[in-house]
Amino acid sequence: MKWTIKERTTKKMSEFKAVGEVMITEEQIRARAKEIGAQITEEFKGEDIIVVGILKGALPWMADIIKCIDNENLIMDFMMVSSYGSGTKSSGQVRIVKDLDFVIDGKNVVIIEDIVDSGITLNYLKGYLAQRNAKAVRICTLLDKPTGRKVDLEADYVGFEVPDAFIVGYGLDFDQRYRQLPYISFLKQD
Ligand code: IMP
Ligand code: MG
Repeated sequence: MKWTIKERTTKKMSEFKAVGEVMITEEQIRARAKEIGAQITEEFKGEDIIVVGILKGALPWMADIIKCIDNENLIMDFMMVSSYGSGTKSSGQVRIVKDLDFVIDGKNVVIIEDIVDSGITLNYLKGYLAQRNAKAVRICTLLDKPTGRKVDLEADYVGFEVPDAFIVGYGLDFDQRYRQLPYISFLKQD
């Protein structure tokens, strides 16, 4: 089948009752991924990179980021951790559901995450990967919610800062839903 290049535009999906207005569009996210991808390319020039996506929320953002990292020795891995229950508040406990496939000893690791809220998940992961003798551990998050912070943790690469609301879309879920939204929005309160 013949294909043609079309201009991509963010279309709002049919009105999901619980989802608010578009806060950040897909175009804005992709433009930011380009900038951050270039920075990561620069930081690890001539070195290898293991990009570790934190399932499931990081998936759309990871897909954008990896396409913007110009590095012949980039490989991907995934981890899955659980720290949240089904509500909107963190349990404060981190459990590894799926561990790395690769040995990261002496390697540069870039963790890709959807959002840093309390910082508990990434603080734990950063320590865990450092313990496994990674050469460098960097955090690249789509969103940062600084008002939620409970531990002292700063991401190295931040897509966008968001206010104190429960965010959904572009990987972020409420009760496993809304991850497929091609934009960032928030959960309506009612
Ligand atoms: P933290 O450990 O509190 O920093 O939260 C990390 C995880 O909680 C993220 O990877 C998300 O899965 C989830 N999370 C935190 N804030 C939000 C939000 O506003 N919307 C959806 N998920 C969130
Ligand atoms: Mg989640």
